[in-house]
Amino acid sequence: MVSTDRPTHSVMSEARYEQLVQAVVDYAIYMLDPTGHVVSWNAGAQRIKGYDADEIIGQHFSLFFTAQDCADGRPQRLLRQALEEGKAQDEGWRVRKDGTQFWALAALDVIRDAQGEVIGLAKVTRDITDRRESALQLDGMRAQLFQAQKLEALGQLTGGLAHDFNNLLTIILSSARLASSSQDPARVRRLLEHILDAGQRGTQLTQQLLSFARHRQLSITRIVPAEAIDIICGLAEHALPREIELLPQLQPDLPLIEVDAGQLQMVLLNLVFNARDAIAATGQIRLVVESVQLSGEVDGLYGQFVRFDVRDDGQGIDPQVLPRIFEPFFTTKAFGKGTGLGLSQAYGFARQSNGMIEVSSRLGEGTCMSLYLPARTGPDSLSTDG
Ligand SMILES: Nc1ncnc2c1ncn2[C@@H]1O[C@H](COP(=O)(O)OP(=O)(O)O)[C@@H](O)[C@H]1O
Ligand SMILES: [Mg+2]
Repeated sequence: MVSTDRPTHSVMSEARYEQLVQAVVDYAIYMLDPTGHVVSWNAGAQRIKGYDADEIIGQHFSLFFTAQDCADGRPQRLLRQALEEGKAQDEGWRVRKDGTQFWALAALDVIRDAQGEVIGLAKVTRDITDRRESALQLDGMRAQLFQAQKLEALGQLTGGLAHDFNNLLTIILSSARLASSSQDPARVRRLLEHILDAGQRGTQLTQQLLSFARHRQLSITRIVPAEAIDIICGLAEHALPREIELLPQLQPDLPLIEVDAGQLQMVLLNLVFNARDAIAATGQIRLVVESVQLSGEVDGLYGQFVRFDVRDDGQGIDPQVLPRIFEPFFTTKAFGKGTGLGLSQAYGFARQSNGMIEVSSRLGEGTCMSLYLPARTGPDSLSTDG
């Protein structure tokens, strides 16, 4: 017996292909003519958008966009981009027949005939509303975790701050007392200067604390690295014992970065606290900030980055423990001393910001945490008007 004939490729591609496209229900797959009118419609398109083939074929695809997007010329822009570049991608709200909306991921590809003439466009749309919602939920949870971490960091700060505030108030009160019983105008003037100076330092302190505590909503802004470091040093100073020195070392003319300021402060503060915890008695924490050009050597990152190094000369990290330090809830600290969330959040923040965090450590010699954040590119990347 002769084996059954296998269908040839051309037979496959015509009828079977049409069947295949028709059977797909998870994707809307349809064709547009070069002016953007619908010429074919599959089951997925019907399911996702709610129109039957006979009511939609011949209509313009801008029908699927929101009124605002139409007014902004979004459908036209996509069409033009696809025709010019061969393809276009888009993500955004689309409108179903019943007026409800879904979050769509859409791709538009130009189709040409054998002669290279454009005969139409293939449009593939997915409803990714669920994915978007879970991503938003995840963002929400991340924000809450950050909030919790921030409270922990604030808790670490307030003890030291209260102490420093007390010192300032002591200066103010005793100077005021001395001044009120003094007859010597020169001495009174000197005491008033002490009072002013202490008052100003107190104001500065509250401002630093507030600027740290205030950030609630995540918002990405342009940041001057030197200003972020100023705030960190101003705050951390109060949470470090006298025996631990904090030494900032900034390259001049650092480029701007674009991240959430509150998260950046918190991540750096947590790195400084980790460094402090690693130093048994006396030691140094260096905060080195430099601009670096990467070409794949750090986690495949390319381009200009700002690197924040937090280096300590503390106990270092055991090589056995090292692979685990970025895990959520991993801590080697005593109950009540650590939550194990600091580094996992630093890692999350770095990834979310298209950067990276790396560690190098030697047991008994110290640790260096390096946070890489992408430099803002663009015409005003070197201006400091952020
Ligand atoms: N600078 C450092 N020196 C030594 N060990 C560190 C340093 N930074 C982090 N670690 C280790 O990584 C662990 C996880 O850090 P982290 O996520 O900040 O949680 P936590 O500080 O609450 O323990 C720490 O418990 C510690 O063992
Ligand atoms: Mg920590």
